[in-house]
Amino acid sequence: MRDANEREWSAGEVEVLARAVVRAPSVHNSQPWSLALPERRAELSERADLALPRQDPRGADRLLSCGAALANLVLAVRVLGWHADVTIPGGEAPLVAIAAAAGREQPSDHELHAYAAISRRRSHRRSFSPLPVAPVALSRIIDPMPEGVFCHLVGPEDTDEFADLLETAAKVIKGDAGLQAELAAWTSAWRTDGVGDGLVAPGYEKAGLPWAGLVRETSVIPDTGTLASRLAQETLLIFCAEDSRAGHVSAGVAMEHAWLAAVDEGLAASVLSQPLHVLDVRARLAGALSLPAPPQLIMRLGYPDGSVRRSARRPAGDLLRRPDRGRVF
Ligand SMILES: Cc1cc2nc3c(=O)[nH]c(=O)nc-3n(C[C@H](O)[C@H](O)[C@H](O)COP(=O)(O)O)c2cc1C
Repeated sequence: MRDANEREWSAGEVEVLARAVVRAPSVHNSQPWSLALPERRAELSERADLALPRQDPRGADRLLSCGAALANLVLAVRVLGWHADVTIPGGEAPLVAIAAAAGREQPSDHELHAYAAISRRRSHRRSFSPLPVAPVALSRIIDPMPEGVFCHLVGPEDTDEFADLLETAAKVIKGDAGLQAELAAWTSAWRTDGVGDGLVAPGYEKAGLPWAGLVRETSVIPDTGTLASRLAQETLLIFCAEDSRAGHVSAGVAMEHAWLAAVDEGLAASVLSQPLHVLDVRARLAGALSLPAPPQLIMRLGYPDGSVRRSARRPAGDLLRRPDRGRVF
């Protein structure tokens, strides 16, 4: 008979798995996931009680966030020395994915590097240094994409149209009282000077681009020309996938892998979904840039021009769910 140690995660392993999930990026830092660890499986579920009905009525951002958490979870399973059998059922909520430890297997160098980047990754919503991202680094970041996910590199020919659409989206978001109330409710504990999420506070010269974070009631929206010239200085990626549970989760996995690879290359990044929730903008972007599937997330990449504070998280214990009771404790 196998002893209990072989059949179940040890307390140390539980800690490693939980901490990896907790550090994932999530929409408005909502951390909309829970984790059950029966036997040697890790079951990641979404938490619909942490919903954003105004910004994200379809729950796509929640699943993208869970995809990012899944990427971290699988890296943790691998770094603990287990082969990970991953299933993304794509069926009924709340289950998002299962990562089952299936026999011993050493992690690759690539996995060790990606895992090590988890604790260094953070949203860099500020401007970047003028150094361009080398094509060789870029290909290490975006190749290969998981099945069903496409990554579009925004080129110089796209910049004007992209700037125009971001400006349109920003004006809609700024004027939507319900959306702004929801945003304030979720992010009011963030730094109130706006610097923390990339919005320019008067007199703060190192602040990021005004479009680089979340558009609020008080955001200053630059004109299209200014925006286009700023966009031209950045490396911008658009992650695209079909609008399905599996599509959203896979896009989140791809985004987190790219982000961790970027951090490993000495780069910084931030992501935006807010403009893509303006449905007309989303459809026009897909058409104008001939995207192969609906756009799910925008990522800005560059060399950091300074450090960014680590954002807060709920304690790791909060995410663990008892499989028999199905509740968070
Ligand atoms: C699906 C998704 C959508 C996001 N959308 C935005 C956005 O539109 N604007 C923004 O500034 N940050 C956005 N973020 C970043 C989160 O706000 C950020 O990950 C969270 O606050 C935690 O901070 P950290 O990334 O520094 O750990 C998004 C993250 C995810 C996963």
